[in-house]
Amino acid sequence: MTQTILVLNGPNLNMLGTREPEIYGSETLADIERRLAARAADLGLAIDFRQSNHEGELVTWIQEGRGRVAGLIMNPAAYTHTSIAIMDAMQACDYPVIEIHLSNVHRREAFRGHSYVSKVAVGVICGFGSKGYDLALDGMADLLARSR
Ligand code: DQA
Repeated sequence: MTQTILVLNGPNLNMLGTREPEIYGSETLADIERRLAARAADLGLAIDFRQSNHEGELVTWIQEGRGRVAGLIMNPAAYTHTSIAIMDAMQACDYPVIEIHLSNVHRREAFRGHSYVSKVAVGVICGFGSKGYDLALDGMADLLARSR
């Protein structure tokens, strides 16, 4: 059976393409989803790609992944730096998490250097723009192949 990778995007990422393109690039989230779905198919995986501006909705989606998805790739956006609720939901789930950011959060304001999600993620990718999603998917595929 094809394994599904949940790909979650946090607040304001629906604005990609027009939001601070000098930091986040000119691709839209729909562009990223299209490319990632094709790459997933090449890897024999499926993706379930979602975005929400609401912390609780993201928490619910993480919970609902239990027993349904093989892994989670998440760009938690600003919730990275604030959300104990998202960290707790990840800790309670039974699948690996990879954290990604388009920008190199460590080169920016000091508050972006702290991540609650990093405490529970297997790994973190940041600073490679939308390419980070592809790198995360490759990393997840390796992880799943090794745990088989
Ligand atoms: C981000 C970095 C966060 O600090 C910021 O709040 C975002 C996007 C990134 O992808 O670079 O919304 O997660």
